[in-house]
Amino acid sequence: MFRHYMEKKVSELMAQVPDVADHEALRLLLLAVDEGASWPVGDPDVTAEVAGRFEGYVERRRGGEPLQYIEETVQFGPLELHIDSRALIPRPETERLWELAVDLVKGLDEPTIIDVGTGSGNLALAMKWIRPDSIVIGCDLSCDALDLARENAARLGLAVDFLIGDLLDPLPTSLRGEVDLIVSNPPYVARSEYEGLAAEVREHEPMEALVADTDGLGILNRIAVGAADWLRPGAAIICEIGETQGLACLDLFSGYSPRIEEDLTGRDRFVVGSAPMASDVH
Ligand SMILES: C[S@@+](CC[C@H](N)C(=O)[O-])C[C@H]1O[C@@H](n2cnc3c(N)ncnc32)[C@H](O)[C@@H]1O
Repeated sequence: MFRHYMEKKVSELMAQVPDVADHEALRLLLLAVDEGASWPVGDPDVTAEVAGRFEGYVERRRGGEPLQYIEETVQFGPLELHIDSRALIPRPETERLWELAVDLVKGLDEPTIIDVGTGSGNLALAMKWIRPDSIVIGCDLSCDALDLARENAARLGLAVDFLIGDLLDPLPTSLRGEVDLIVSNPPYVARSEYEGLAAEVREHEPMEALVADTDGLGILNRIAVGAADWLRPGAAIICEIGETQGLACLDLFSGYSPRIEEDLTGRDRFVVGSAPMASDVH
């Protein structure tokens, strides 16, 4: 009876909201059922409870809320993270940033890694997970995002420090010239482009996680300038960028012998460089 009711509900949903994908409706259904784990088959009260939850989730999805915020979960590389509207939802292309960043510290013992604009802590935590010997610090301007990042660290049992402040400012001065890798997925959307983003993104995800001034390049520029004080000679820097920002970023990061890396669809999405060796500095 319950199954029949739910199948009918899912069919109704499909008919009313053709833009909600079948797999999403099914995930919401599974979410509603999971939360009622003790539900005995056929109990009409509990059935109503599960159905009520399902309808609530469907309403939220119809209102444009991202699926991940409703499920409160997102997969990032090897990690299942808690996610909610306190931070940007980690995107699949950022998993490529993580892979490239992992390569940049290969062969280094106990590397010191800084994640600038850590959000939910996805990059910082995935770095610590794959390199348990590393010292990882995540920085962010958002108190809410850092609360979420700390919750994720505690849940996953990963020892990462999260510090509040503007870009690299919160780092202890003892790290000046000692950092092995700066990794960042900073805000890089131009204000003029923001209105063109999907309503789902604009209405539910934090704007300050996405938008930067100077055509989206303002924060990338400040990271490039600021990183020089923290990286040891020869240390690496990698940032995610917008697909049209490759040339501009080669210029911004010109002090780091930069190159551009593509994402899996062949678009320019990452700027990678290294700090000059002491012998290169005149
Ligand atoms: C694009 S989100 C990236 C979040 C996460 N690292 C990820 O990959 O999904 C950018 C993050 O930078 C943070 N941020 C924006 N301006 C900042 C600043 N001036 N200093 C530090 N963090 C900043 C935002 O709060 C947001 O969490």
